[in-house]
Amino acid sequence: MEITVNGKVHTIEAESDTPLLWVVREQLGLTGTKFGCGIAQCGACMMHVNGKPMKTCVLPVGAVAGAEITTIEGIGGQDELHPVQQAWIDAQVPQCGYCQSGQIMSAVALLATNDDPSDDDINRAMSGNVCRCGMYGRIRTAIKRVAENQVAIYDPKANDTQSSNAGEMKNG
Ligand code: FES
Ligand code: FES
Repeated sequence: MEITVNGKVHTIEAESDTPLLWVVREQLGLTGTKFGCGIAQCGACMMHVNGKPMKTCVLPVGAVAGAEITTIEGIGGQDELHPVQQAWIDAQVPQCGYCQSGQIMSAVALLATNDDPSDDDINRAMSGNVCRCGMYGRIRTAIKRVAENQVAIYDPKANDTQSSNAGEMKNG
């Protein structure tokens, strides 16, 4: 089976019902995406599939053959941080850090499609991501900073381009 991750085609060996998360972590060695609950409740395993954030702990790899998959490694890294990653650092969002790649993937997907999200938009977009360290307020701040600065955002629908931005979330 072939899957396309971060713009590269990979030939993998897996049963079609194997969760995408395991294939990406164990066969491709991309471990930035985390395993949390395994039952689609926490968002730690979020990747983009054709630009949409999806929980990959319950997403069969057979369902994404032919799709464009993007992981946190495809968003940016230490050499070239994505604006959302930079905003996360500036706002000191990460604490234990475990939830953060999933949070960033949801935030990037939101900002790429909505450059002026309302608080409700943000709440909705981030509602699938749990932070046990309770960094919701800082996450909100970081998203708002990116939106206010109108910083160019990676467009998850076009693996090699940059586009849009924006603003807020739940519980303090
Ligand atoms: S590990 Fe996938 S939602 Fe928690
Ligand atoms: S930073 Fe620790 S779970 Fe979110």
